[in-house]
Amino acid sequence: MTQNTEPANFNALIDTLSLQGYVICDDFLAANTITALYDEAYKRHTNNDMVPAKTGLINKSQQSNIRGDHIFWLDANSENINTQAYLSKMQALKAALNQQLFMNLQSLETHFTMYPIGGFYQKHLDQFNQGIHSAHDTKARQLSSILYLNADWQADDGGELRLYLNEHEHLNILPTAGKLVLFLSQKFWHEVRPAKRERISLTGWFRTRSQSLL
Ligand code: OGA
Ligand code: MN
Repeated sequence: MTQNTEPANFNALIDTLSLQGYVICDDFLAANTITALYDEAYKRHTNNDMVPAKTGLINKSQQSNIRGDHIFWLDANSENINTQAYLSKMQALKAALNQQLFMNLQSLETHFTMYPIGGFYQKHLDQFNQGIHSAHDTKARQLSSILYLNADWQADDGGELRLYLNEHEHLNILPTAGKLVLFLSQKFWHEVRPAKRERISLTGWFRTRSQSLL
């Protein structure tokens, strides 16, 4: 059939995800879109629009021992053309996942994330308990997604995503511009190793309908 409007082909990505429970894709969006998204995130940072990310803990002073990143939630109505390019590709991915893997994903929550130099996030699961009345009830998270925006990231810059495959094995994934990582939120423990450079990404979770809304 016609290929004129570049219908995204997620088949290989979805096959790998269904086999492994995670997948790494090296060029999820065009390089110029990735650069523009980096600039947009950096602007949010310099404008002081970002806020310290939270954990499930009530005690705020403990939180910075667990994670050091700052975030800015995206609004689906954003008119920024690059943000829209990201969101619409994620919507297309969600539709393909629902169609091919019957994942019943309903929505995407997503934010820009910036780890300052030295920033890290201790080993965790993305479905930690924030209580059912939280705006970001994490139990509804099914699939975690991270799109990295950092040009020229080198191995000695650190900041790897360490994805634990089982008790004995893990992957170290560099947060290189254009790379998308997807993994099942209930299943994969992971951490962010300390970064020697500022580390910027778009983090998201595809969710089923939140139980608190039932
Ligand atoms: C998170 C997370 C990983 C990364 O925000 O929950 O684990 O590589 N991020 O940024
Ligand atoms: Mn996480």
